[in-house]
Amino acid sequence: MKDIKALISQMTIDEKVGQLIQLSADFFGTDTELTGPAQSWGLSKEQLSTIGSCIGGKDAATIRKMQEEHLRSDRNKIPMMFMTDVIHGYRTIYPIGLGLSCSFDPELAGECTEMAAKEASAGGIHLTFAPMIDLVRDSRWGRVMESCGEDPLLAAAFGEAQVKAYQGEDISSRDHIAACVKHFAAYGAAESGRDYNSVEISERTLRQFYLPTYKACIDAGVKMLMPSFNDLNGIPSTANPFLMKQVLKDEWHYDGAVISDWGAIRELTVHGVAADLREAARMAFEQGCHIEMCSQAYYRNLGDLVRDGVIPESELDAAVQKVLELKDELGLFDDPFHSADDERGRAMYLSPSHRALARRAAEESCVLLKNDGVLPFPTDLKRVAVVGPYADNKSVIGPWSCKGKVDEAVSIAEGIRELLPDVEVLSAHGCGYLFEDLDKSGFDEAIELAKSADAVVICVGEPAHYSGEANSRATLTLPGVQTELVNAINAVNPNSAVLIFGGRPLDLTAIYDSSRAMLEMWFPGSEGGRAAADLLFGKANPCGKLTMSFPKGVGQCPIYYNRMLSGRPNYKPDGVWQAFANGYLDCGSRPLFFFGEGLSYTSFEYESMTLDAHELTEDDKITVTVRLKNTGDRDGKEVVQLYMHDKVSSAVRPVQELLAFKKVFLKAGESADVQFEIKEPALRFWNAQNQLISEAGEFELFVGYADHRYICDEFTLVK
Ligand code: NOJ
Repeated sequence: MKDIKALISQMTIDEKVGQLIQLSADFFGTDTELTGPAQSWGLSKEQLSTIGSCIGGKDAATIRKMQEEHLRSDRNKIPMMFMTDVIHGYRTIYPIGLGLSCSFDPELAGECTEMAAKEASAGGIHLTFAPMIDLVRDSRWGRVMESCGEDPLLAAAFGEAQVKAYQGEDISSRDHIAACVKHFAAYGAAESGRDYNSVEISERTLRQFYLPTYKACIDAGVKMLMPSFNDLNGIPSTANPFLMKQVLKDEWHYDGAVISDWGAIRELTVHGVAADLREAARMAFEQGCHIEMCSQAYYRNLGDLVRDGVIPESELDAAVQKVLELKDELGLFDDPFHSADDERGRAMYLSPSHRALARRAAEESCVLLKNDGVLPFPTDLKRVAVVGPYADNKSVIGPWSCKGKVDEAVSIAEGIRELLPDVEVLSAHGCGYLFEDLDKSGFDEAIELAKSADAVVICVGEPAHYSGEANSRATLTLPGVQTELVNAINAVNPNSAVLIFGGRPLDLTAIYDSSRAMLEMWFPGSEGGRAAADLLFGKANPCGKLTMSFPKGVGQCPIYYNRMLSGRPNYKPDGVWQAFANGYLDCGSRPLFFFGEGLSYTSFEYESMTLDAHELTEDDKITVTVRLKNTGDRDGKEVVQLYMHDKVSSAVRPVQELLAFKKVFLKAGESADVQFEIKEPALRFWNAQNQLISEAGEFELFVGYADHRYICDEFTLVK
């Protein structure tokens, strides 16, 4: 353990401020020259030597050089921390967050995250800006791709698993890195799905749905937190006393480090809540933001704010201590390189075992949305046609792919060729996938190919750069003329399956009727093509379930399964419009695909649900036993989802809420009992006075998926 206090006592105010500044890698030359960005900021070599952390860095060798140079020039010999966005893999890329959440398997997410931590650590990274655990309800928002969807319980389980897997028992170990939960809070509720937009949300809704995911990561011991860009009810998160002081510190007792999002402290002036950078620096610092990422408010003003007596030096010291303690926990004072080693990295990146894990994760993340007896395709075919803009396209790793390389990914056509070497696999791209790709001159080739094939795989979707940060959409249909392509191919060969790629739930209404099979691929990662081939030809059995509702039209957004119960609900099963009920004239009230929905090549029957008691007291539990049978002729996995509805309470409650879930594997013909325990805390909710309470009364319980009740029962909470 380093004597941090002694170290701080020797530091000047400016050196202390340096520890609270993060700059991008292009600021740091590895020789005696200052690089362009440092010059344009007017940073001297001495000032640069005090900087505490760096975002980015090419590889271990470069980061080592930067660290060496830094340690040579820093009078205090304090190593820099190197951070980056390792979101769904470092070099071996697994499915995007939204896809992986559809596995309903936090353990699998943990395995993938551990792999990413090992690779990133070898590459010189000490901390990742992950997990991103914002609850989302509106697929116009491009960042839904990073999230775990619309349910707080599921997202919290994934967040916890990821934090534990990144950090392990000891972040100084070479296989682990520190994690940073983001974006606190409710970034996913941006109005109209426009990135960086305002969030106007009641405290009750915030606490009920949006906050639990961050809290789960904090309870799991996450080392850092990032406030969100948005304003929450008028106050930007970066300087929001309700979020940063009341909730984070006073209620949750969060004791870790806080880093601003990129430029977010400067943006307090753009939001218009700070007159200038000095005021912005003071506001963010006072709300507990320790590190400023890539803007100049702290660097230009924090020292003077201390010298002028506006900020007590003891508070500056406390912030520096937080940063240095994290460096110490990472072991950087002993090994400033955290065992960074490109050679170790190269032995891991895309190694057979890492590829195998990415492939398994992709297989478990894809969701079979529709299957009219088409899939799986038999393997004794003569010719398979792979058509559409994703047929031969290796851009299946998706946005936020860190060091992942598109040319190291497997395309769909490649995956099928590899799986079926004796089958003729031909491809035609048919059309492009950009909004402006309206050229249909490739249709004829694709149609002729489809006609000549025994089976057709139609690969469509949105390009990677249509989702992720700043990539919101106001339409959700397949871009360009892809809808027409799908319908044209389906018309000439009914033995077709549509694969959909993208970072969000798209509006697939216009291809639904013509398509006999639809498989949601998301962005499946480096092994996407192999995973797709396995699923299409029955080597793997689809088991993913949706974690976001698929709207029937953009006008349904936001749409989510745990909506509040309307006084005029639309109960009609087909969701078509009813007079004076809660729906739309033109597309009813229901999504095209529901939260929790997803098909398999086998069939499951829920035979019974039994409760060992029908009354629950505050210090007791009810055990629910669900009897599940695989009634088909294939082995398969099913996600057993248990939902509840609070029948009468002092405030309106959701139509349904996921209470628990378990993913089970059953061999063909096999049955199993799946058990869940219900305890009183799971029934608590935030009432109109913003208190977390449970109320006595009856609860409905069902297994199934959103708006689909296979078996129901009820129990009573007695107080
Ligand atoms: C901005 C994004 O909002 C955040 O998620 C990310 O970690 C930082 N940039 C750093 O890349």
